[in-house]
Amino acid sequence: MAELERFTVSMDRRLLEQFDARNKEHGYDNRSEAIRDLIRKEMVAEEWNAPDGKARVAATVTIVYDHHKFDLARQMVELQHEHGDTVVTTTHVHLDHDNCLEVIILRGESARVQELARRLIAMKGVKHGQGVFTTEGSNIV
Ligand code: NI
Repeated sequence: MAELERFTVSMDRRLLEQFDARNKEHGYDNRSEAIRDLIRKEMVAEEWNAPDGKARVAATVTIVYDHHKFDLARQMVELQHEHGDTVVTTTHVHLDHDNCLEVIILRGESARVQELARRLIAMKGVKHGQGVFTTEGSNIV
């Protein structure tokens, strides 16, 4: 393990109580891991929000759609082919006769990944779409 550094933080007691209660709810054993996770979360958000849009990132997009609707299945495949350098893989589940669930794993520069995620979610006929925007991990300790 890397060298550990201890530091002291002063804060309003009530805020700390709220933080401790929240951490207990989330299943943290101690404050340190909760604080490390918050810091990492912020660093990942900053990667995504960097103005040049060039940070290397990873994401998953989960969508549910009716494959009978609006020629959507074909358009979905076409859009993914157009962005073959960004789409890592796709998992498709036939939920029932009409509905499909797809998880699309994306990787690349944040601006391109974000744009493709938006376009996938916004496609006409997608009932629900949600992106998880995460990190490739190499810049986060
Ligand atoms: Ni299907």
